[in-house]
Amino acid sequence: MAPPPSSRPRRSSAKPSRPGAPKRPRRTILPGLPESLAIVQRLARGLSGCFDVASIGDQVVRALTDELGLHSCSIMLLDAGGERVVNLSGASPTVPKTTQRSFRLGEGVAGIVAREGRAVRVDDTRLDPGFLKGPIPIRSLLCFPLFSGDRVIGVLNLSHPVQGFFTAEHEAAFSILSTTIGHLLAFARLQGELADLNRSLEAKVEAKTKESEASQQKLFQQEKLVSLGTLVAGVAHELNNKLVPLLAYSHVLAESPRSDEERRLVTAMASAATGAKQIVEGLLRFARQEPPRMSVMNWNDVIGDVVEWLPYRKDKPSITVRTVLDPDLPPVLGDAQQMGQVLINLINNAYDVMSDGGTLEITSRSRGARVEVDVSDTGPGIPPELLSKIFDPFFTTKEVGQGTGLGLSLCYGMVRTHRGEIEVQSRPGCTVFTVQLPRAPETSSRGADTHPREGPGGR
Ligand SMILES: Nc1ncnc2c1ncn2[C@@H]1O[C@H](COP(=O)(O)OP(=O)(O)O)[C@@H](O)[C@H]1O
Ligand SMILES: [Mg+2]
Repeated sequence: MAPPPSSRPRRSSAKPSRPGAPKRPRRTILPGLPESLAIVQRLARGLSGCFDVASIGDQVVRALTDELGLHSCSIMLLDAGGERVVNLSGASPTVPKTTQRSFRLGEGVAGIVAREGRAVRVDDTRLDPGFLKGPIPIRSLLCFPLFSGDRVIGVLNLSHPVQGFFTAEHEAAFSILSTTIGHLLAFARLQGELADLNRSLEAKVEAKTKESEASQQKLFQQEKLVSLGTLVAGVAHELNNKLVPLLAYSHVLAESPRSDEERRLVTAMASAATGAKQIVEGLLRFARQEPPRMSVMNWNDVIGDVVEWLPYRKDKPSITVRTVLDPDLPPVLGDAQQMGQVLINLINNAYDVMSDGGTLEITSRSRGARVEVDVSDTGPGIPPELLSKIFDPFFTTKEVGQGTGLGLSLCYGMVRTHRGEIEVQSRPGCTVFTVQLPRAPETSSRGADTHPREGPGGR
């Protein structure tokens, strides 16, 4: 292990030249302090506003090799773990890009400078045991620590194949340069980190805004359902009271009409009152939103039952029905009858919009802690401006008598009371309704599995 640089006579600590220090004879074309300072100033000006660490490194190295005629020069930065300095950029007239080198702290001159935080000048590398030979022939070396505040962030290496190339004057000039480069690099790094932080913050804010908009929308939808439910329940109850005598008397009258004309009229009245009562009952069902009778259920069974029932819609033989069911679908806790109603509503809507035929696909899958069912159709799609309305009670685009606009709001209410979600995605030619329910807890699914096998005397 090499002793620290200070113990070696040929390696001097590079400090700004002291006023009375003896001047070395000029053996090089390196400029003196004023010119070097001018170059430093030019460089710093050129770099202002550049926040890219690699590009700063590149510009510095190019300026030092081109303007000062240095043989080779490189910047090494401390890695994320703070254990090695790694080549950032390098240039040399003989080797166009210095090969990617890295040193552990304390290893080689660069590693020593990075660990100790002070500059080192080597006049003859052959006599310095700390120097590690690389691909470029180097005889004299100047290495400066780069600081961010009082923390070393890397090193600046200047080298030349001629022995004793660097003077104390150069040490002073480059010491100022290394301070400037250190600040610039630290600033660029900070800018980069700040930009990254900003980006992730913006993304987080955007995600949070979307999330809160969505939950606000859900809350709004629920509140709307609750208040509409109350209103509908009140109106339906009143209407029902008025319809009861109307129905009863029209039936009485229809039994003993005074003329054929009267029979026709009274029968029409009775049938209209029956229709009205059915509507009222539908409204009451909507308003009541019966609490679900929860048990462990498997969506695949519900889908299977509903699809079996589908052939009743023989009016659309041009519709192909496909099911893509996950055979390992985990069970959910739910009211199978209500979830069947949800499916039927979605399927009916899909059938209604595919007037010229198409494909209806029902898919089940497990997604994390939830189980999802998609009902997709190849119909015309839902215009974007209507997407926020379709779950509203009484919203329908169907002709009078064709739709009540209650199907989706009922689905919404039922799924929400199951602590699930119902969502829609639509574009022309493809509409997908997705129902998500939480998976049944492990214990309940095990209970459901074992229950049939366990009789009263079972273990
Ligand atoms: N699969 C679908 N494709 C296109 N539009 C749909 C689809 N499902 C529902 N809609 C739209 O949503 C509206 C509300 O649906 P719903 O609440 O079931 O009431 P209804 O079917 O009685 O109109 C429909 O009138 C229709 O405009
Ligand atoms: Mg409907």
